[in-house]
Amino acid sequence: MFKEKSVIASELYKNIGSVVIPKEKLQDKVRFLGEQISHDFKNEDVVLISNLKGSFRFLSDLSASLNIPTQVDFISFTSYHGGTESTGEMRIIKDLKMPIENKNVIVVEDIVDTGYTIDFILKYFQDFRAPKSVKICTLLDKKEKRKIDVPVDYVGFVVPDLFLIGYGLDYKEYFRELNYIAEYNI
Ligand code: IMP
Ligand code: MG
Repeated sequence: MFKEKSVIASELYKNIGSVVIPKEKLQDKVRFLGEQISHDFKNEDVVLISNLKGSFRFLSDLSASLNIPTQVDFISFTSYHGGTESTGEMRIIKDLKMPIENKNVIVVEDIVDTGYTIDFILKYFQDFRAPKSVKICTLLDKKEKRKIDVPVDYVGFVVPDLFLIGYGLDYKEYFRELNYIAEYNI
C-alpha cells in the first residue's frame, strides 16, 4: 500500500519545471513585506489570518519578519472545483478560533488568482466579524487571471499564468515542502 503511493509520488516529482522564484528571492521579499507591514501598523497590533493550506509557509516566515505585536489564526475555505481551476462557489470548512472584532486583520494568501477566494473572505469578515480594518497580503499575484476585482494591499511578486508549486503551493497536496517556487508541468 505505502510502496504503491511512493511510486506514484516519485512520478509526480519528475514533472517539476523550471524555478520561477528561488529561495533567496522569496526570503528577501518576505523580509521586505514584513518591514512594510511593521511600518504601516506602527503602534498597532495585527491578526494575521491564513487561509489553509497554501499560505502556511509564507505566514510562518512573514510573522517572523514583523516587529509589531502579532496574533495568528487560521480559516479554511474550499471552492468547489476539480483539478486546478477555481469556481465562484465557496464553503467554510474551518472557522476562526479567535474573535477579530475591532482588530486590524491581515489576510495572508499564497496566491490570488481569480480573486473569488479573497472576495469571499472579505465579504464574510465584513458581514459577520466586524474587524477594525482588513488588508490583503499575498505572496503571488496572478493578475492576468483575475475574474473579480479585489483590493490587494501587499504583493510579493506578480506572476504569469503558469501552474506554480512550492513554498506552500501544491499539486495534489505535494510540493508544499519545496523552498522555492517552480512551474509544474501538469
Ligand atoms: P482564487 O483567487 O479564488 O482563484 O484562488 C486562489 C487559490 O487557488 C490559491 O489560494 C491556491 O490555493 C489556488 N491556486 C491558484 N493558482 C495556483 C497555482 O498556480 N498553484 C497552486 N495553487 C493555485
Ligand atoms: Mg490557497
